[in-house]
Amino acid sequence: GPGEYTSILVSQPAPGVSQITLNRPKALNALNSTLFHELNAALRTLSSDDSTGCVVLTGSDKAFAAGADIKEMKDKQFAEVYKGDFLAHWTELSGFRKPIVAAVSGYALGGGCELAMMCDIILAAPNAVFGQPEINLGVIPGAGGTQRLTHALGKSRAMEIVLTGKNFSAAEAAEWGLVSRVVQEGAVVDEAVKVAGKIAGKGMLAVQAAKEGVNAAYEMSLTNGLHFERRLFHQLFATNDQKIGMNAFANKEKAKWTNS
Ligand code: HXC
Repeated sequence: GPGEYTSILVSQPAPGVSQITLNRPKALNALNSTLFHELNAALRTLSSDDSTGCVVLTGSDKAFAAGADIKEMKDKQFAEVYKGDFLAHWTELSGFRKPIVAAVSGYALGGGCELAMMCDIILAAPNAVFGQPEINLGVIPGAGGTQRLTHALGKSRAMEIVLTGKNFSAAEAAEWGLVSRVVQEGAVVDEAVKVAGKIAGKGMLAVQAAKEGVNAAYEMSLTNGLHFERRLFHQLFATNDQKIGMNAFANKEKAKWTNS
Protein backbone atom coordinates (compact mmCIF):
# COMPACT_ATOMS: atom_id res chain seq x y z
CA GLY A 1 0.00 0.00 0.00
CA PRO A 2 0.87 3.71 -0.22
CA GLY A 3 2.29 3.77 3.30
CA GLU A 4 5.40 1.89 2.24
CA TYR A 5 6.63 4.59 -0.19
CA THR A 6 9.21 7.24 0.65
CA SER A 7 9.73 8.99 -2.69
CA ILE A 8 6.25 9.01 -4.23
CA LEU A 9 2.70 9.65 -3.07
CA VAL A 10 -0.27 7.70 -4.41
CA SER A 11 -3.80 9.08 -4.22
CA GLN A 12 -7.23 8.79 -5.87
CA PRO A 13 -8.25 12.36 -6.73
CA ALA A 14 -11.36 11.35 -8.70
CA PRO A 15 -13.38 8.23 -9.47
CA GLY A 16 -11.35 5.94 -11.71
CA VAL A 17 -8.25 8.14 -11.46
CA SER A 18 -5.09 7.35 -9.53
CA GLN A 19 -2.43 9.98 -9.06
CA ILE A 20 1.27 9.35 -8.51
CA THR A 21 3.17 12.37 -7.21
CA LEU A 22 6.96 12.29 -7.34
CA ASN A 23 8.03 13.41 -3.90
CA ARG A 24 11.70 14.17 -3.33
CA PRO A 25 11.22 17.94 -2.93
CA LYS A 26 14.73 18.65 -1.59
CA ALA A 27 16.31 17.13 -4.70
CA LEU A 28 13.77 18.61 -7.15
CA ASN A 29 12.46 15.08 -7.65
CA ALA A 30 15.78 13.81 -9.01
CA LEU A 31 15.10 10.26 -10.13
CA ASN A 32 17.01 7.65 -8.16
CA SER A 33 16.71 3.89 -7.91
CA THR A 34 14.42 4.01 -4.87
CA LEU A 35 12.02 6.35 -6.63
CA PHE A 36 11.89 4.16 -9.73
CA HIS A 37 11.50 1.03 -7.66
CA GLU A 38 8.52 2.62 -5.94
CA LEU A 39 7.07 4.05 -9.16
CA ASN A 40 7.23 0.64 -10.83
CA ALA A 41 5.70 -1.07 -7.78
CA ALA A 42 2.86 1.47 -7.68
CA LEU A 43 2.17 1.04 -11.39
CA ARG A 44 2.11 -2.75 -11.04
CA THR A 45 -0.51 -2.39 -8.33
CA LEU A 46 -2.56 0.06 -10.40
CA SER A 47 -2.38 -2.10 -13.51
CA SER A 48 -4.40 -4.83 -11.78
CA ASP A 49 -6.65 -2.39 -9.91
CA ASP A 50 -10.05 -2.39 -11.63
CA SER A 51 -10.98 0.91 -9.97
CA THR A 52 -8.14 2.68 -11.82
CA GLY A 53 -8.93 3.56 -15.43
CA CYS A 54 -6.29 6.23 -15.91
CA VAL A 55 -3.24 7.53 -14.05
CA VAL A 56 -1.98 11.07 -13.49
CA LEU A 57 1.77 11.46 -12.96
CA THR A 58 3.02 14.72 -11.52
CA GLY A 59 5.73 16.34 -9.41
CA SER A 60 5.80 19.62 -7.50
CA ASP A 61 5.22 23.20 -8.67
CA LYS A 62 8.98 23.69 -8.95
CA ALA A 63 9.94 20.38 -10.54
CA PHE A 64 8.28 17.52 -12.34
CA ALA A 65 11.75 15.95 -12.11
CA ALA A 66 15.19 17.56 -12.55
CA GLY A 67 16.59 14.41 -14.13
CA ALA A 68 18.34 11.29 -13.03
CA ASP A 69 20.01 11.66 -9.63
CA ILE A 70 23.45 12.83 -10.67
CA LYS A 71 24.91 12.23 -7.20
CA GLU A 72 23.76 8.59 -7.21
CA MET A 73 25.00 8.04 -10.77
CA LYS A 74 28.34 9.87 -10.87
CA ASP A 75 30.65 7.12 -9.55
CA LYS A 76 29.13 4.23 -11.50
CA GLN A 77 31.52 2.23 -13.71
CA PHE A 78 30.93 0.79 -17.17
CA ALA A 79 30.94 -2.85 -16.03
CA GLU A 80 28.26 -2.13 -13.44
CA VAL A 81 25.92 -0.13 -15.70
CA TYR A 82 26.37 -2.59 -18.57
CA LYS A 83 25.92 -5.79 -16.56
CA GLY A 84 22.95 -4.39 -14.65
CA ASP A 85 21.52 -2.74 -17.81
CA PHE A 86 21.26 0.56 -15.89
CA LEU A 87 18.10 2.49 -16.84
CA ALA A 88 16.37 -0.49 -18.48
CA HIS A 89 13.86 -0.88 -15.65
CA TRP A 90 13.39 2.91 -15.52
CA THR A 91 11.34 2.64 -18.69
CA GLU A 92 8.87 0.10 -17.30
CA LEU A 93 6.23 2.84 -17.26
CA SER A 94 6.23 2.92 -21.06
CA GLY A 95 4.77 -0.60 -21.07
CA PHE A 96 1.89 0.28 -18.71
CA ARG A 97 -1.33 -0.49 -20.57
CA LYS A 98 -3.68 2.07 -19.05
CA PRO A 99 -3.24 5.70 -20.14
CA ILE A 100 -0.97 8.00 -18.14
CA VAL A 101 -1.42 11.78 -18.18
CA ALA A 102 1.65 13.77 -17.14
CA ALA A 103 1.03 17.09 -15.39
CA VAL A 104 4.31 18.98 -15.74
CA SER A 105 5.16 22.03 -13.65
CA GLY A 106 8.67 23.44 -13.36
CA TYR A 107 11.73 21.47 -14.40
CA ALA A 108 11.38 18.39 -16.61
CA LEU A 109 15.03 17.89 -17.46
CA GLY A 110 17.00 14.90 -18.63
CA GLY A 111 15.33 11.78 -17.24
CA GLY A 112 12.46 14.02 -16.11
CA CYS A 113 11.74 15.06 -19.69
CA GLU A 114 12.12 11.44 -20.78
CA LEU A 115 9.73 10.26 -18.08
CA ALA A 116 7.13 12.80 -19.21
CA MET A 117 7.59 11.61 -22.81
CA MET A 118 6.89 8.00 -21.76
CA CYS A 119 3.43 9.15 -20.69
CA ASP A 120 0.53 9.23 -23.16
CA ILE A 121 -0.57 12.83 -22.78
CA ILE A 122 1.46 15.74 -21.42
CA LEU A 123 -0.16 18.90 -20.03
CA ALA A 124 2.21 21.72 -19.10
CA ALA A 125 1.99 24.54 -16.57
CA PRO A 126 3.17 27.94 -17.86
CA ASN A 127 6.38 27.58 -15.81
CA ALA A 128 7.29 24.16 -17.24
CA VAL A 129 10.87 23.92 -18.51
CA PHE A 130 11.91 21.00 -20.68
CA GLY A 131 15.37 19.96 -21.76
CA GLN A 132 17.95 17.25 -22.24
CA PRO A 133 21.04 18.73 -20.52
CA GLU A 134 22.97 15.43 -20.42
CA ILE A 135 25.53 16.75 -22.92
CA ASN A 136 26.68 19.13 -20.16
CA LEU A 137 27.44 16.11 -17.96
CA GLY A 138 29.54 14.32 -20.56
CA VAL A 139 26.79 11.84 -21.48
CA ILE A 140 23.66 11.71 -23.64
CA PRO A 141 19.99 11.04 -22.89
CA GLY A 142 19.61 7.42 -21.78
CA ALA A 143 15.89 6.84 -21.37
CA GLY A 144 14.44 7.79 -24.72
CA GLY A 145 15.50 11.41 -25.19
CA THR A 146 17.23 10.91 -28.52
CA GLN A 147 14.28 8.87 -29.81
CA ARG A 148 11.00 10.20 -28.39
CA LEU A 149 12.08 13.84 -28.61
CA THR A 150 13.01 13.32 -32.26
CA HIS A 151 9.64 11.73 -33.01
CA ALA A 152 7.89 14.68 -31.38
CA LEU A 153 10.02 17.61 -32.53
CA GLY A 154 11.64 16.45 -35.75
CA LYS A 155 15.35 16.13 -36.40
CA SER A 156 16.61 19.70 -36.44
CA ARG A 157 14.91 20.79 -33.21
CA ALA A 158 15.77 17.54 -31.43
CA MET A 159 19.40 17.82 -32.53
CA GLU A 160 19.59 21.40 -31.30
CA ILE A 161 18.13 20.48 -27.91
CA VAL A 162 20.24 17.33 -27.43
CA LEU A 163 23.51 18.76 -28.79
CA THR A 164 23.41 22.16 -27.06
CA GLY A 165 21.66 21.08 -23.87
CA LYS A 166 19.53 24.23 -23.91
CA ASN A 167 16.15 24.15 -22.26
CA PHE A 168 12.83 24.96 -23.91
CA SER A 169 9.68 26.52 -22.52
CA ALA A 170 6.11 25.30 -22.05
CA ALA A 171 5.03 27.55 -24.94
CA GLU A 172 7.68 26.07 -27.23
CA ALA A 173 6.77 22.54 -26.13
CA ALA A 174 3.14 23.24 -27.09
CA GLU A 175 4.03 24.90 -30.38
CA TRP A 176 6.27 21.94 -31.29
CA GLY A 177 3.67 19.34 -30.34
CA LEU A 178 5.51 17.76 -27.41
CA VAL A 179 2.66 18.66 -25.05
CA SER A 180 -1.07 18.86 -25.73
CA ARG A 181 -1.37 22.34 -24.30
CA VAL A 182 -0.28 24.82 -21.66
CA VAL A 183 -2.93 25.25 -18.97
CA GLN A 184 -3.51 28.19 -16.61
CA GLU A 185 -1.08 28.72 -13.76
CA GLY A 186 -1.91 26.50 -10.80
CA ALA A 187 -4.37 24.36 -12.75
CA VAL A 188 -2.24 21.69 -14.39
CA VAL A 189 -2.92 18.87 -11.93
CA ASP A 190 -6.66 19.62 -11.78
CA GLU A 191 -6.78 19.70 -15.55
CA ALA A 192 -4.87 16.41 -15.83
CA VAL A 193 -7.26 14.81 -13.34
CA LYS A 194 -10.17 16.11 -15.42
CA VAL A 195 -8.74 14.59 -18.61
CA ALA A 196 -7.94 11.35 -16.78
CA GLY A 197 -11.45 11.24 -15.34
CA LYS A 198 -12.93 11.59 -18.78
CA ILE A 199 -10.78 8.68 -20.01
CA ALA A 200 -11.59 6.60 -16.92
CA GLY A 201 -15.28 7.02 -17.77
CA LYS A 202 -14.86 5.12 -21.04
CA GLY A 203 -14.80 1.35 -21.48
CA MET A 204 -11.40 0.12 -20.39
CA LEU A 205 -10.99 -2.40 -23.21
CA ALA A 206 -11.54 0.21 -25.91
CA VAL A 207 -9.23 2.62 -24.09
CA GLN A 208 -6.43 0.07 -23.94
CA ALA A 209 -6.92 -0.86 -27.59
CA ALA A 210 -6.86 2.81 -28.56
CA LYS A 211 -3.59 3.32 -26.69
CA GLU A 212 -2.10 0.26 -28.39
CA GLY A 213 -3.20 1.57 -31.77
CA VAL A 214 -1.72 5.05 -31.35
CA ASN A 215 1.53 3.63 -29.97
CA ALA A 216 1.77 1.31 -32.98
CA ALA A 217 2.06 4.41 -35.17
CA TYR A 218 5.54 4.88 -33.68
CA GLU A 219 6.64 1.32 -34.38
CA MET A 220 5.09 0.32 -37.71
CA SER A 221 4.88 1.30 -41.35
CA LEU A 222 1.57 2.90 -42.36
CA THR A 223 0.33 -0.27 -44.07
CA ASN A 224 1.14 -2.45 -41.07
CA GLY A 225 -0.21 0.12 -38.65
CA LEU A 226 -3.51 0.40 -40.51
CA HIS A 227 -3.79 -3.40 -40.60
CA PHE A 228 -3.07 -3.62 -36.88
CA GLU A 229 -5.67 -0.91 -36.20
CA ARG A 230 -8.35 -2.69 -38.21
CA ARG A 231 -7.70 -5.96 -36.37
CA LEU A 232 -7.94 -4.19 -33.01
CA PHE A 233 -11.21 -2.64 -34.23
CA HIS A 234 -12.54 -6.08 -35.28
CA GLN A 235 -11.55 -7.57 -31.92
CA LEU A 236 -13.65 -5.05 -30.03
CA PHE A 237 -16.75 -6.65 -31.61
CA ALA A 238 -16.02 -9.60 -29.34
CA THR A 239 -16.59 -7.42 -26.27
CA ASN A 240 -19.76 -6.70 -24.34
CA ASP A 241 -18.85 -3.04 -24.28
CA GLN A 242 -19.17 -2.76 -28.06
CA LYS A 243 -22.74 -4.08 -27.84
CA ILE A 244 -23.44 -1.88 -24.83
CA GLY A 245 -22.01 1.25 -26.44
CA MET A 246 -23.74 0.90 -29.77
CA ASN A 247 -27.09 -0.18 -28.30
CA ALA A 248 -26.97 2.73 -25.86
CA PHE A 249 -26.52 5.09 -28.81
CA ALA A 250 -29.39 3.49 -30.73
CA ASN A 251 -31.64 3.66 -27.64
CA LYS A 252 -30.60 7.23 -26.77
CA GLU A 253 -29.22 6.04 -23.41
CA LYS A 254 -25.93 6.55 -21.64
CA ALA A 255 -23.63 3.53 -21.96
CA LYS A 256 -22.88 1.61 -18.75
CA TRP A 257 -19.54 0.00 -19.44
CA THR A 258 -18.74 -3.43 -18.04
CA ASN A 259 -15.08 -3.59 -19.05
CA SER A 260 -15.80 -6.98 -20.53
C1 HXC B 1 20.76 15.18 -8.08
C2 HXC B 1 19.81 17.26 -7.98
C3 HXC B 1 19.47 17.18 -9.34
C4 HXC B 1 19.83 15.99 -10.05
C5 HXC B 1 18.81 19.07 -8.58
N1 HXC B 1 19.37 18.44 -7.55
N2 HXC B 1 18.86 18.33 -9.68
N3 HXC B 1 20.46 16.26 -7.36
N4 HXC B 1 20.46 15.03 -9.38
N5 HXC B 1 19.50 15.81 -11.34
C6 HXC B 1 19.54 18.93 -6.18
C7 HXC B 1 20.64 19.96 -6.10
O1 HXC B 1 21.89 19.32 -6.01
C8 HXC B 1 20.26 20.67 -4.83
O2 HXC B 1 20.66 19.87 -3.72
C9 HXC B 1 18.74 20.68 -4.86
O3 HXC B 1 18.38 19.62 -5.76
C10 HXC B 1 18.17 21.96 -5.40
O4 HXC B 1 18.78 22.24 -6.65
P1 HXC B 1 19.49 23.64 -7.01
O5 HXC B 1 20.43 23.38 -8.10
O6 HXC B 1 20.01 24.29 -5.77
O7 HXC B 1 18.21 24.47 -7.52
P2 HXC B 1 18.19 25.63 -8.60
O8 HXC B 1 19.34 26.59 -8.38
O9 HXC B 1 16.81 26.16 -8.57
O10 HXC B 1 18.46 24.94 -10.01
C11 HXC B 1 17.53 24.00 -10.54
C12 HXC B 1 18.13 23.21 -11.73
C13 HXC B 1 19.47 22.57 -11.27
C14 HXC B 1 18.39 24.18 -12.91
C15 HXC B 1 17.13 22.17 -12.16
O11 HXC B 1 19.22 21.85 -10.07
C16 HXC B 1 20.04 21.61 -12.26
O12 HXC B 1 20.66 22.01 -13.24
N6 HXC B 1 19.90 20.31 -11.99
C17 HXC B 1 20.48 19.28 -12.83
C18 HXC B 1 19.69 19.11 -14.10
C19 HXC B 1 20.27 18.01 -14.97
O13 HXC B 1 21.44 18.10 -15.43
N7 HXC B 1 19.49 16.97 -15.23
C20 HXC B 1 19.91 15.86 -16.08
C21 HXC B 1 20.50 14.80 -15.22
S1 HXC B 1 21.18 13.49 -16.22
P3 HXC B 1 21.40 20.53 -2.45
O14 HXC B 1 21.74 19.32 -1.64
O15 HXC B 1 22.55 21.29 -2.98
O16 HXC B 1 20.34 21.38 -1.85
C22 HXC B 1 19.90 12.56 -16.64
C23 HXC B 1 20.26 11.33 -17.41
C24 HXC B 1 19.03 10.66 -17.90
O17 HXC B 1 18.80 12.82 -16.35
C25 HXC B 1 19.15 9.21 -17.73
C26 HXC B 1 17.85 8.52 -17.94
C27 HXC B 1 16.87 8.59 -16.80
